[in-house]
Amino acid sequence: MTRMPQRFTPLQRALHWLMAACILAMFFIGVGMVSSIAPKYLPLIALHKSLGAVILILALIRLAVRWRYGAPALPANLPVPMKLAAELSHYILYALMIAMPLLGWGMLSAANYPVVLFGSVHLPMILPESPSLHTALWNAHHYLAFVFFAIVLLHLAAALFHALVRHDGVFEAMAPLPLSDSSPDRVSR
Ligand code: HEM
Ligand code: HEM
Repeated sequence: MTRMPQRFTPLQRALHWLMAACILAMFFIGVGMVSSIAPKYLPLIALHKSLGAVILILALIRLAVRWRYGAPALPANLPVPMKLAAELSHYILYALMIAMPLLGWGMLSAANYPVVLFGSVHLPMILPESPSLHTALWNAHHYLAFVFFAIVLLHLAAALFHALVRHDGVFEAMAPLPLSDSSPDRVSR
């Protein structure tokens, strides 16, 4: 008898891939805008703020959906260090999806700079004006962007390792479309 593969729900998969595209775009928009003093800086930073706010909302929805529906089990034969690395990296990715937009919003608030989304939605200031706080948050946003990008690259490498080397059904659990499943028994998490 063929056992159906255990997969993330369609909503979880849709949110994962939509957010992956948005976050990858944010890295390139961010780097593009800070390395430009041309007039395109202004539309780029406007897009960066609006897309960043969308990411924050989607991340909160995603966490609620994750809490409600859980996640498929990892393969029973996955070595414990790999299982721990997977879980730790997922916690860090969720934390950064929420921290990065809040740091961006916080740094602009500390600079008393208006945070306007989609040209008309004004967000309230979440911190008092403070040049030293602005600098600290700017640095945190800057360095955590590199940490975020590095973890995304490791996450991509791990996903490809599961898909192409281990063939253990982990990639299929998050694949946007059903793929052939060859997953061995999985343990619950
Ligand atoms: C997941 C969400 C986000 C990611 C991945 C992200 C990523 C980045 C990156 C890669 C940079 C360039 C860093 C550098 O080289 O210094 C940057 C700069 C910046 N980001 Fe974000 N960001 C996010 C959300 C936000 C949000 C929501 C806001 C504001 C509401 C924001 C405001 C800024 C500002 C003001 C800068 C600096 C621009 C400058 O100094 O010219 N970011 N961000
Ligand atoms: C910015 C890009 C990305 C972010 C922020 C991200 C984030 C995440 C997070 C937080 C999870 C854990 C889901 C949960 O347990 O609720 C996850 C799972 C997963 N992601 Fe990504 N992801 C990104 C890109 C990618 C890419 C490019 C691939 C593959 C090509 C990928 C493949 C997977 C797979 C296979 C899983 C399931 C892992 C498991 O069942 O333990 N992700 N991703």
